[in-house]
Amino acid sequence: MSDTTLSPLDEAGVATAVDEALAAIANAGSLAELKEVRLAHAADASPLAGANRQIKNLEPSQKAQAGKRVGQARGRVNKAIAERESTLQAEAAERMLIEETVDVTVKPNRFPAGARHPIGLLMDDIADFFSSMGWQIAEGPEIEHEWYNFDALNFGPDHPARQMQDTFFVDAPGSHLVMRTHTSPVQARTLLNQAPPVYVACPGKVFRSDQLDATHAPVFHQVEGLAVDKGLTMAHLKGTLDHFAKWMFGEEAHTRLRPSYFPFTEPSAELDLWFPAKKGGAGWIEWGGCGMVHPNVLRACGIDPEVYTGFAFGMGIERGVMLRHDIDDMRDMVEGDQRFTAQFGPTSHGRGV
Ligand code: FA5
Ligand code: MG
Repeated sequence: MSDTTLSPLDEAGVATAVDEALAAIANAGSLAELKEVRLAHAADASPLAGANRQIKNLEPSQKAQAGKRVGQARGRVNKAIAERESTLQAEAAERMLIEETVDVTVKPNRFPAGARHPIGLLMDDIADFFSSMGWQIAEGPEIEHEWYNFDALNFGPDHPARQMQDTFFVDAPGSHLVMRTHTSPVQARTLLNQAPPVYVACPGKVFRSDQLDATHAPVFHQVEGLAVDKGLTMAHLKGTLDHFAKWMFGEEAHTRLRPSYFPFTEPSAELDLWFPAKKGGAGWIEWGGCGMVHPNVLRACGIDPEVYTGFAFGMGIERGVMLRHDIDDMRDMVEGDQRFTAQFGPTSHGRGV
């Protein structure tokens, strides 16, 4: 450009420079392009700036007119650049609004990690605990034959104990199927399948037509324990229960047995737990039932009660979760509110799915 220096006296040349500049400005499609245009047509190296620098060398008589000519030319170019710049800026802002719009109705491609329910977590932990003592883990069906749920467990056909637990009968006349009312039928299933010695724990879901309230649910969980071997006594039962209680609730926890009745155990006992962290001070809390396996149950499963003895226990899992986590109301555990389960840790932290 310097060799074709524009003279401030060249009226046509100045007009051409302005026309060229205005055309280039109008053509600039982006702020980056406009920057290039400004360098070429308005900055120090541009023909008009060069012409402007020469004005001081002109004859005094020529200065005024040339100054006016070049000044107006540069003014028009600068004004056009400023206008184009604000147009392009407005366009860029508008484009950004469109391109960067967040569509809140678009389905996310990631799902929140969620959290496992504390009942499932505790059942897994309990299974680990019994496995660590060398016990097996057994499971049985939730829809159970009446024979396993009652008959094999020494509930006579008209035994009032059949109504002891309000039973959901499966509606197929003559099917003799019930929603199992406790995990004890797994005792009979195990003993029919396996010769002693038997050491099994059976965590699972059970059903009773109980009203949902702060301490009862119609669907809840139990863990059953069963040991059948030579020479087992209530001392082994008590030792196992105390060990389990300490593992679940801490070193100070232990158990107490109160005489009770179950058709499938003799003697039978209510199982209370000494709970140091009980609200309002340490105290006893009912945890489950237990006893020595009734000889009739052993006989029904083909085991000689003169040779083998056994102990069994069953406790509510919900009760355990409530005590361990200081939960006042069982309904919190069945409502499916994620804010509740999330407190026990999302799956991505630690315990897996
Ligand atoms: C039984 O179910 C016996 N099968 C326990 C047993 C096993 C005795 C082996 C002897 C040998 P029970 O009905 O008391 O017993 O229930 C045991 C525990 O289940 C209760 O102590 C309580 O912790 C829990 N439980 C009972 N009903 C409910 C309910 N509706 N909601 C939540 N937990 C319950
Ligand atoms: Mg009871």
